[in-house]
Amino acid sequence: MKLIKKGAEADIYQTMWQNSKAILKIRKVKNYRNPSLDAKIRKQRTIKESQMISNARTFGIPTPLVYFVNLKKSYIIMQEIPGTPVHDLSESKIIKFSKEIGNLVGKLHQNGIMHGDLTTSNFILFKNLVYVIDFGLSQNSIKPEDHAVDLRLIKEILNSAHAKIMKNAWKNFLLGYKSVVGDSYHTKIAKLVAEIESRGRYAEVV
Ligand SMILES: Nc1ncnc2c1ncn2[C@@H]1O[C@H](COP(=O)(O)OP(=O)(O)O)[C@@H](O)[C@H]1O
Ligand SMILES: [Mg+2]
Repeated sequence: MKLIKKGAEADIYQTMWQNSKAILKIRKVKNYRNPSLDAKIRKQRTIKESQMISNARTFGIPTPLVYFVNLKKSYIIMQEIPGTPVHDLSESKIIKFSKEIGNLVGKLHQNGIMHGDLTTSNFILFKNLVYVIDFGLSQNSIKPEDHAVDLRLIKEILNSAHAKIMKNAWKNFLLGYKSVVGDSYHTKIAKLVAEIESRGRYAEVV
């Protein structure tokens, strides 16, 4: 197995599953946690992630197929999406695909899912389709406040990782989001995002 990413929470390996290239995501033991609590958290996040990956696909979100889950060792084997993380695309493509990302986030919210970790590394472009990954922090939620937290995070990521194109990318994201959730829900969430910002945890950017 080839290690392709060492994360704070999980390690990602490339492996094979029945003759297909696959990804193994394993949640690591955290020694600073009480061992039984640690085992519980890793198990729960593994369950959540595998369920949400599959659940999202039922309403049309491109996600990797889940091939195998081991709860005891807290790993998931899933289809490898051999594309490019949106984070690594050219600036013009990031602007272009921001609309699609907005669309996908709108669809998640409409179906009662808060992703919880909306970064441009968690969207992979493959064959002109944008796949969503990394559902370990996702939650079932229809609360506008939770949806606003999702938007505030992706806005912050665009602002920090893609500062030069932030305005155009964010504008396109909102266009895509609005086209799915509708004008009035969009206005409501935009207001909540502004409220979060005015609390001063983050600098105002647009
Ligand atoms: N199914 C997959 N197909 C292709 N690449 C993947 C897949 N899952 C994860 N990766 C790669 O590994 C990275 C980290 O995986 P991710 O699930 O986002 O974990 P983390 O919680 O560490 O961000 C991703 O940004 C992506 O580059
Ligand atoms: Mg990630």
